[in-house]
Amino acid sequence: MRMATVLKRHPAGTLLVVLGVVAAAAVAAWHSTTSAPVDEAKAAGLSAADFPEIAVDLFKPMDGGIALSPDEIKGRNSWLLWTAGNQAFWDQVARTGFGLVDLLKTLDSRRRPHRFAEMGLINEPGFKAAAAPDAYGLWLDEPASPAAAEIDPRIYGRPSGVIGFRIFPNPAFDAQAKQRWNPERYYSDPTYYTDPDLVRPYRIGVACGLCHVGPNPLHPPDDPENPTWADLSSAIGNQYIREGKVFTLAQPRSFFWEMLNAQPPGTSDTSRAASDHINNPGAMNAMLLLGPRLAEASEETIAGGGLEFPGGAQRRVPHLLKDGADSVGVAGAMLRVYVNEGLYFQEWLTDHDLLLGLRAQKPFPVKAAFENSVYWQATFARIDDMAKFFLRLGPMHLADAPGGAAYLSQDPSVMDRGKIVFAENCAGCHSSKQPPGDIDPRSEPAKQWYRDAVMRPDFLDDNFLSTDKRYPVSLIKTNACRALASNATRGQIWDNFSSETYKSLKSVGPIEVYDPTDETKPYRFDTPAGGPGYYRPPSLVAIWSSAPFLHNNSVGVFTGDPSVAGRMRAFDDAIEKLLWPEKRLGKESIWRTTQESYLRIPEAFVPVALRPLVRDGYLSLGPIPKGMPINLLANIDPTGRNVLDLALAANKALLELAGQKLTAGSGGALAPGDPIDTLLASLMAASKCPDLIEDRGHDFGTHLPDSDKRALIEFLKTM
Ligand code: HEC
Ligand code: HEC
Repeated sequence: MRMATVLKRHPAGTLLVVLGVVAAAAVAAWHSTTSAPVDEAKAAGLSAADFPEIAVDLFKPMDGGIALSPDEIKGRNSWLLWTAGNQAFWDQVARTGFGLVDLLKTLDSRRRPHRFAEMGLINEPGFKAAAAPDAYGLWLDEPASPAAAEIDPRIYGRPSGVIGFRIFPNPAFDAQAKQRWNPERYYSDPTYYTDPDLVRPYRIGVACGLCHVGPNPLHPPDDPENPTWADLSSAIGNQYIREGKVFTLAQPRSFFWEMLNAQPPGTSDTSRAASDHINNPGAMNAMLLLGPRLAEASEETIAGGGLEFPGGAQRRVPHLLKDGADSVGVAGAMLRVYVNEGLYFQEWLTDHDLLLGLRAQKPFPVKAAFENSVYWQATFARIDDMAKFFLRLGPMHLADAPGGAAYLSQDPSVMDRGKIVFAENCAGCHSSKQPPGDIDPRSEPAKQWYRDAVMRPDFLDDNFLSTDKRYPVSLIKTNACRALASNATRGQIWDNFSSETYKSLKSVGPIEVYDPTDETKPYRFDTPAGGPGYYRPPSLVAIWSSAPFLHNNSVGVFTGDPSVAGRMRAFDDAIEKLLWPEKRLGKESIWRTTQESYLRIPEAFVPVALRPLVRDGYLSLGPIPKGMPINLLANIDPTGRNVLDLALAANKALLELAGQKLTAGSGGALAPGDPIDTLLASLMAASKCPDLIEDRGHDFGTHLPDSDKRALIEFLKTM
């Protein structure tokens, strides 16, 4: 029976579901301990000294073969191999995740021949597809040659055949578990593999390289499915990863699948695990030329947290992340990401409600992490070397890529004009070389300063091509949802990782967004104060290599082709759309459901009274019609006072919409006065980010004559 029909017959049904979920969450919160738990390494009596770094230069041909110092070598090894104990977290998620997340299945070796095309994963050089399942009946890549003896598998696991995933033996896989283990059923039978008591033979750990290693633009692989080490770059950002396919086994017809399906390749929603109820995946940007970025770091007040900066101090910190929220220094930013991947999850999971986010967050306590997590301590001890390694990653010029010179203009007058256009329209935000402090940046002398600066032959040398400052989204006018991320605001999960300066930022005021109920006038949204609402200009270093553009990869085609020609095809399309906004998708860029789907609530969260309605392990709410703007539903915040009102409004809208056709491309616009309008309006009103158009804004330079835009493009290619 369809849930819609059921709910029509039992109008109280939804209410009960919602009440049940809220009650379950409240019980979970109540059960969470008040004293901080310890992590696995601490419980085993280990110390940070038991987790040494690796001194051997294991990845020598990577990153253009640069010669690294001993510390830098250790840093790169940690970046690519260290999982900080998160294998226990991913195992727990696999057991309790209703079969939705299981990295052991992601690694299925039968997928190796098309992993890059299908999932954007980078196959590890030196491995091949398995000829047969292993001793436990699992399909895992096989080494083409013996594994490097320098890597202690107890600390780093063994390679999985995919960069960023490491395989550890599962300590819980004892004789009894072995007895029960049935690989055929593991791959095929949901009643078997969704059992939380099923013990898998291995645990999979995630290292940072998973999302940050990508094909080297200056040394592209001949076959992206089979790169060599020389073809890879440590921090270019994996611009090809398809997060939904890598991390979940979500199936069509569920709303979650639709959310992941709409997510652009090369992005990750870093606030999905600890949900802030905003669906806002962001691109993995390249981390190149960080020296000048650190040099231009801004003065901020830090309220302690026990990281490298003592509390209350005014310190110069870089602004990490697209919104500049990570603002207590480099170590804080790095450790926070480790936690987000499962470091010291024993504490982290008590501070929020994984994926669902039904109860209010608590700040992850950095102090407790230092005291009770040996993995945290061992990670902290690695940060300096990792930072030293990053500082060595220089620019990547198109001229140095195979065949790259052919894409560059040889006409000095065009190049000179491009430089002047950049000076007058872009350098104020996209240059770390700025006029001296006593010159007003908007004054005529400042403009002259920029014009002189860009004409100097060394303008691009040691230039991070960003000011690293935060600018209001009301000025940038791009989709606001990433800027509105709230996890680093006061009292939220990442509170300890943002500065007082960030937490005291003023609201950027009201912004105007597209209104699906009335296309004739914009919808006004009041942005909150306390941190959200800003974007940091990304660096334009090697911008030729990283299209599509903007924080959500929304501007330009995705070619999936890491060759120079493939990157240039993406660049040409993206820059045209950036500078000629009439060529953008506009309303077509709204993420929509592709078919009828359901909000599926796992049985464990369904109140007993409604369990008879569960089918195949889920209570399905809906149907959600095809063409529904995804973020209209995904950005609704169920925490707080109005939770029941909101859920009821949402479900009512769903039921009313059930008979409607919101076909993709119609813009979702309905005849004025349509009763559906009221329902859409209530969803808009309940939204944490009702900004639906993904590829809008950043109008800088769009007013220029075509010849100036063309000249500017030629200069951008040289960055
Ligand atoms: C699931 C994908 C994923 C994994 C795994 C991942 N990252 Fe990232 N990383 C991202 C994304 C997406 C961004 C861009 C986020 C943003 O700027 O808002 C990012 C950005 C960063 C940045 C900030 C870059 C900048 O220029 O401001 C740092 C630092 C970073 N990651 C460190 C790490 C560390 C340390 C790890 C390993 C613990 C890691 N990342 C693992 C997806 C990932
Ligand atoms: C007021 C500051 C500001 C000015 C002026 C400005 N930008 Fe930006 N730029 C930004 C910000 C902030 C972003 C990130 C916006 C986002 O992702 O939503 C950005 C993003 C970009 C991107 C996308 C980068 C990527 O990695 O996806 C490009 C390309 C770019 N700008 C080029 C330019 C050019 C060319 C000019 C001059 C015509 C210019 N910008 C002027 C602030 C500015």
